[in-house]
Amino acid sequence: MKAIRIAKTGGPEVLELQDIELPPPGPVQVRVRHTVIGVNFIDTYHRSGLYPAPLPTGLGLEAAGVVEALGEKVTNLKIGDRVAYCSGPMGAYAEANNVAADRLVKIPANISDEIAAASMLKGMTAQYLLKRTFPVKPGQTILFHAAAGGVGLIACQWAKHLGAIVIGTVGSEEKVPLAKENGCTHVLNTRDANWVSRLREIAPDGVPVVYDSIGKDTWNGSLDCLAVRGTMVSYGNASGAVPAFEPGILSMKGSLYLTRPTLMHYTRTAQELQETADDLFAAISSGIVKVQVNQRFSLADARAAHVALHSRKTTGATVLIP
Ligand SMILES: NC(=O)c1ccc[n+]([C@@H]2O[C@H](COP(=O)([O-])OP(=O)(O)OC[C@H]3O[C@@H](n4cnc5c(N)ncnc54)[C@H](OP(=O)(O)O)[C@@H]3O)[C@@H](O)[C@H]2O)c1
Repeated sequence: MKAIRIAKTGGPEVLELQDIELPPPGPVQVRVRHTVIGVNFIDTYHRSGLYPAPLPTGLGLEAAGVVEALGEKVTNLKIGDRVAYCSGPMGAYAEANNVAADRLVKIPANISDEIAAASMLKGMTAQYLLKRTFPVKPGQTILFHAAAGGVGLIACQWAKHLGAIVIGTVGSEEKVPLAKENGCTHVLNTRDANWVSRLREIAPDGVPVVYDSIGKDTWNGSLDCLAVRGTMVSYGNASGAVPAFEPGILSMKGSLYLTRPTLMHYTRTAQELQETADDLFAAISSGIVKVQVNQRFSLADARAAHVALHSRKTTGATVLIP
């Protein structure tokens, strides 16, 4: 089968399309024939080496497709089931992958494979951030970075539905209308050096929570946006990892709380995974969240997908078609 693999870390050029043999699924695994593959910013961290992975390796954690073969101990799925996954094993950038049966969820009939592949990782992230890491309350004004991105578009719609007043950030003026159409009441451009003072004009006392996936470039500014005893949710590094810092900064800036969460720890058990997926699929089915797939590439063009993500010109979700 065709698969994207890397033998070394680096830029998008290290992604190689190869012909590889996929072994039969292990006893508790299922072979999923992919119809749509989700592209996520975390894939660029694995590719660049920011998140180290043993090499050589496949890439990608998320896909939707059809069950094609079952390990002998699998009882909860059958051949032909439509399923999706978003916690690997790494190797979703391929025509098929062997996935642990308890990391798969069945795709509801009213949700397409494309929407499932575009939303499982990003939408379940929005779910745990807004409902479990720092549960937003009606009337709260919150700051959500990269508001027009994959996680951002879903999260800002959902946060508005939960009653929050969302201040979103984007990196270019072209993205402002999209962010406003998808839940943001206010949109700030982080390329404007005064974005923090603009936030303080909207929320003079600061905001109770910042959801920051940009990392290095926004770290200091985000802390300056928080109200006393506010919560910094640092959940990504699109601009680079947050550098080492003195914990005392959290006291100086207002007895702040800091958490650095990952989806994996919010979907540890099959039950947690299913409940999170059910909540997301319900939000999509009821129209609370509209998932936008705004970039599509063929599997062979995975390099172009990564170049696009780094360009900061993408909006919503990006998928690969095998
Ligand atoms: N911890 C978790 O559980 C978890 C789970 C899923 C995703 N994430 C994180 O959430 C973020 C969003 O993921 P996504 O897949 O939906 O990606 P995305 O938001 O579609 O793309 C990343 C966005 O980050 C912004 N950005 C700011 N500085 C950047 C830079 N120097 N280079 C590239 N982008 C930059 C860009 O938007 P602007 O130009 O508009 O600023 C860009 O569109 C990522 O940081 C990802 O690692 C974390």
